[in-house]
Amino acid sequence: MNALSRRWIYVAVVYFCLAVGLGVFMGASGDHRMMSVHAHLNLLGWVTLSLVGIIYHYFPRAAASRLASLQFWLHNLALPVMMVALAMKITGTLQAGPVLGVAAMVLLLAVLLFAGNLFWRRA
Ligand code: HEM
Ligand code: HEM
Repeated sequence: MNALSRRWIYVAVVYFCLAVGLGVFMGASGDHRMMSVHAHLNLLGWVTLSLVGIIYHYFPRAAASRLASLQFWLHNLALPVMMVALAMKITGTLQAGPVLGVAAMVLLLAVLLFAGNLFWRRA
């Protein structure tokens, strides 16, 4: 497996631990306000990063491109900011809204880079 795929998968596992930890906390406490943080940590973190890592394994030309590395950093800088901003907004800090919006757009950009990279550099 190439180094880039491994990097996506290692980070995915970290999101998995955080997301399931939060899920157990929500279940145990009965406080489900963080449901959306939990859902997106799992789906944009654990599930998406694992899939991207596995897909890059099968698209080595795309994995070797600078775009793939840029996508990795954009996704993994935007997602933590987005999750913290979402948690703050849910708990009443409405000023976190614009940060949430910008982080979501950066994340969208990372997703579009992924799509472009896969189509342009098919293995
Ligand atoms: C031990 C593991 C987990 C626990 C204890 C847990 C717990 C919870 C809890 C308490 C909720 C809130 C339910 C509600 O208020 O209606 C929830 C929602 C959710 N969880 Fe988990 N979860 C776990 C693992 C996962 C995993 C692995 C995923 C995805 C890969 C996931 C995806 C979701 C999603 C998408 C929702 C939102 C569901 C909806 O829209 O109604 N969870 N989880
Ligand atoms: C930048 C990317 C994304 C943004 C900005 C986003 C935004 C949102 C928003 C605004 C909601 C409604 C929340 C509410 O009604 O309280 C939502 C819900 C949901 N999204 Fe996303 N989403 C993104 C990516 C994804 C992805 C990639 C998945 C799955 C692979 C996903 C799965 C879900 C699920 C299961 C729900 C329902 C559970 C919940 O309310 O949190 N989302 N998302």
